[in-house]
Amino acid sequence: MNKQEILKMGLSTNGKEKNSAIAISGFNVWINDVHILNNINLHIPNKKITCIIGPSGGGKSTLIRSINRINDEVPDMTIKGNIQFNGKPIYAPSIDVANLRTQIGMVFQKPCVFPKSIKENVLFGVQHLKKIDKHERLQLTEENLKAASLWKEVAHRLNDKASSLSLGQQQRLCIARTLAVKPQIILLDEPTSSLDPVSARAIENMMLELKEQYTIVFVTHNIQQAKRIADHLVFICEGKIIEQGAATKIFAKPSHPQTRAYLNDEFCEC
Ligand SMILES: Nc1ncnc2c1ncn2[C@@H]1O[C@H](COP(=O)(O)OP(=O)(O)OP(=O)(O)O)[C@@H](O)[C@H]1O
Ligand SMILES: [Mg+2]
Repeated sequence: MNKQEILKMGLSTNGKEKNSAIAISGFNVWINDVHILNNINLHIPNKKITCIIGPSGGGKSTLIRSINRINDEVPDMTIKGNIQFNGKPIYAPSIDVANLRTQIGMVFQKPCVFPKSIKENVLFGVQHLKKIDKHERLQLTEENLKAASLWKEVAHRLNDKASSLSLGQQQRLCIARTLAVKPQIILLDEPTSSLDPVSARAIENMMLELKEQYTIVFVTHNIQQAKRIADHLVFICEGKIIEQGAATKIFAKPSHPQTRAYLNDEFCEC
């Protein structure tokens, strides 16, 4: 990012982020000695949608899974560099990882509902965090299903099994469950890739509403989808950030030939 782009994003240029929720600097990941992420430098702006695009195997999932430390479970992984959340290093020994994950929620490619009712799924995470009475349970269920644009479809069947919902509804339920914990950031790894176009659009529209309250990081292979929702765009190829910046600018005039090739659906050699 050049200085002008940094200023346009509302960030300061002295290395201290003014308006970024996440600041990643010199971040590297090796798995089994294979260099998966190579010197990643990235600011994720607050209350905007950042879309991460790039060829398969380029490191998109590894990057977002590093942001809430889900990657900690990967054996033989080595990391170097820094990821800061609200100005604090998330890999510091003093960080409470469970607490970090309540503030940085994640939605996966395939909807992952628990074998419980729709209502129990919404409340699954939040009830571990605080004691909630019957009235609050209903209130939280309604509030979060509404935020995830699912309420109208399920209001009459909250005690039905979550697995009885369609895939698109299950994915919205997973989003409701994530929202119920009140995170600051929502990471989504190809959340619509297993859904039909109508369900995918419902999730896109929801993201556009949710960005007023949340910082959203959205991995997608779908360039048209990124065009519709991204404020900030990051293009990753073979573990490196090739280009990042305002989405409208990159879509109109990418600076790098690799980005141009990828956006034009051509073979991209990084
Ligand atoms: N647990 C793991 N063990 C070994 N290698 C891994 C592991 N996780 C990821 N990798 C490797 O890291 C590289 C990046 O994978 P990653 O899943 O981050 O890519 P991606 O950009 O998300 O790809 P896709 O678009 O296909 O989802 C790949 O070569 C992958 O095989
Ligand atoms: Mg992936």
